[in-house]
Amino acid sequence: MSESLKKIDSFVLFGALGDLSIRKLIPAWYYLERDNMLSDSLQILGVGRKDISDTDIKDEVKKALNEFVSPEYLNPLAVSRLVERFSYCRCDLSKNESYKDLSQKLSDWAKPAAYYLAISPGLFEMVCDGLKDSNLITPDCRIVVEKPIGYDLETSNEINEKLTRHFDESQIYRIDHYLGKETVQNLITLRFANSLFSSQWNSKGIEYVEITAAESVGIEDRWGYFDGMGQLRDMVQSHLLQLLCLIAMEPPNRLDDQSIRSEKVKVLEALKSLDQDSISSNFVAAQYTDGEIDGVKAPGYIYEDGSNQDSNTETFVALKAEIQNWRWLGVPFYLRTGKRMASKTTQIVVHFKSDGHYIFNENKESLKGNTLIISLHPTEGISLQVFTKPHGVDKHSTVRLDPMSLDFIKTQKLLNIPSGYQSLLMDILNGNQSLFLCREEVELAWKWCDETLDAASKSNQELYYYSSGSNGPDKSEELISRNGHIWYEE
Ligand code: BG6
Repeated sequence: MSESLKKIDSFVLFGALGDLSIRKLIPAWYYLERDNMLSDSLQILGVGRKDISDTDIKDEVKKALNEFVSPEYLNPLAVSRLVERFSYCRCDLSKNESYKDLSQKLSDWAKPAAYYLAISPGLFEMVCDGLKDSNLITPDCRIVVEKPIGYDLETSNEINEKLTRHFDESQIYRIDHYLGKETVQNLITLRFANSLFSSQWNSKGIEYVEITAAESVGIEDRWGYFDGMGQLRDMVQSHLLQLLCLIAMEPPNRLDDQSIRSEKVKVLEALKSLDQDSISSNFVAAQYTDGEIDGVKAPGYIYEDGSNQDSNTETFVALKAEIQNWRWLGVPFYLRTGKRMASKTTQIVVHFKSDGHYIFNENKESLKGNTLIISLHPTEGISLQVFTKPHGVDKHSTVRLDPMSLDFIKTQKLLNIPSGYQSLLMDILNGNQSLFLCREEVELAWKWCDETLDAASKSNQELYYYSSGSNGPDKSEELISRNGHIWYEE
């Protein structure tokens, strides 16, 4: 924890009626309330453009909970406790008077506050200046922003410059919600608390690593945002590279924010650039066409609502990344992510090397080494595939592959898996930055993405196509098979 920052009890949510707040943040507050994690004095002020009252925001909170928390988890007492914490301030973020109203509303609230900007990055500067001019920035207050921080290195720099003009790095909380997911946090425990893995976790023990984030949804009503970004910027730049960092980083000296962040920065610094010579064999970009998912017809990307039919934006990316350091020399890290794929599957698969001398009957080539599957979706858990002997008197020289599995919901008797936001909201209140991105991480990740996109564009890389409901284009299978590897499928 950053020593200088105190726990706080005042939370200001800009964009309180927006999608992120309604779908993710308000439900996350609810689960914290239900689990008695919130201090009695916590107050939440929603800020928005709409002219509504304190009573209306309470109704909006209830509506959000009815829609986005499944009824079996709704506890009426917890709902009413949470609703009571909310009040509202109408703000036109471009007007000075609005910040005066805000300051007035907050005048008898406990200081310092956390300002969560669930709004377009184009408004960040205006809000930071408004907070500054109204003396709402105190040494212990916090500002919270979501990924993507920018569109490329240059725009990311611009946003970071705006934030750092008024806030110290120790006050800036850059969210990638994947880091709040339980299984992602568990990666650190899995790697550094189990000596079983630590001796194998390098190029001598590991053949290759896959990181997959497949989604069955398309771009929903976000065409305007998504078409300008594409899947590499939207998913790889932060979510997948953060997972890569946690898999590949050296053991941090301690579990504090600085130690963890500096190890992640070293991984990003060692990530090999994909240049014009290497891009065509190591990078595949594709776009979905029409198809069917779970028996329901799905339109192609360029026929989605609000689309531009000339779009060349990629909705799928597969790539081979390499980390140029001692530990990972020659180990491929394959990243794959796409919209409108067969199912929602988020997983990391670590393929261990097989042993040298082989004494069983099966063809050694068909029996690769052990596999560790770290699953974030649809289940959260880990499964280690081990070889065992099949039962039977005449089976002593054969082997079969069986999973040793941990499903975190069952083993930890959870009512439900928390969304990443629960942990992150608590960390903001408590002043713990270890699950948030530092500026250097964001900028190194953008630099690598910019170089990749630049190499793809300079070498006129083709955009491939895949049917909705499939596992992506054939080219993605080709990419991984070049090294004799295959994507893990259940
Ligand atoms: C967001 C992306 O950051 O993550 C979305 O902008 C994507 O495009 C989402 O759908 C996926 O998050 P999760 O938690 O559902 O895997």
